[in-house]
Amino acid sequence: MPVHLDVLISEEAIQKRTAELARQIETELPGEPIVLIGVLKGSIHFLSDLGRELKADTEIDFLQTSSYHGGKSSTGVVQIRKDLDINIEGLNVIIVEDIVDTGITLNHLRELLSTRKPKSLKVVALLSKEGSRKVHPSVEYIGFEIPNEFVVGYGLDYEERYRNLPYIAILRED
Ligand code: PRP
Repeated sequence: MPVHLDVLISEEAIQKRTAELARQIETELPGEPIVLIGVLKGSIHFLSDLGRELKADTEIDFLQTSSYHGGKSSTGVVQIRKDLDINIEGLNVIIVEDIVDTGITLNHLRELLSTRKPKSLKVVALLSKEGSRKVHPSVEYIGFEIPNEFVVGYGLDYEERYRNLPYIAILRED
């Protein structure tokens, strides 16, 4: 299928907004250690850039859910493919997502991680498609609200391609 990419959010805009989000997080957790939890794979670049902006004492861990996208499951059930390595009890946890779309993945992760008794649990998402929500988990920090278009780049893929792009683009069929 021939496709083309239209840049939606430039590399510069992503970096500027990421720095702003880091300052906001630091302001709301002054002097506190933070655990960043990246949701694989889409969050890789955002977590890396956000983590380097944060001056707080920061730990990093990852988890991965089984994707229910692409018609693999119509139930919206989210399963954990890779769980955390660390115990988050008593810690300030921030889930780092590239995108919140239907909200199903994040809703599940919030419920799961809150049972592990973190001191605080917040979410930072670079992108949000508010118009696509099926469930409405809290998202404390949002980089950009975007329209209901298929986007790739900066971690987001189409059949595993385009994750390496330093910008966010809308993928359109020709
Ligand atoms: C994407 C994204 C979120 C989730 C958001 O991950 O990284 O985790 O989908 O969608 P939702 O709000 O509709 O649940 P995906 O399962 O595609 O895996 P990937 O990050 O490895 O591409």
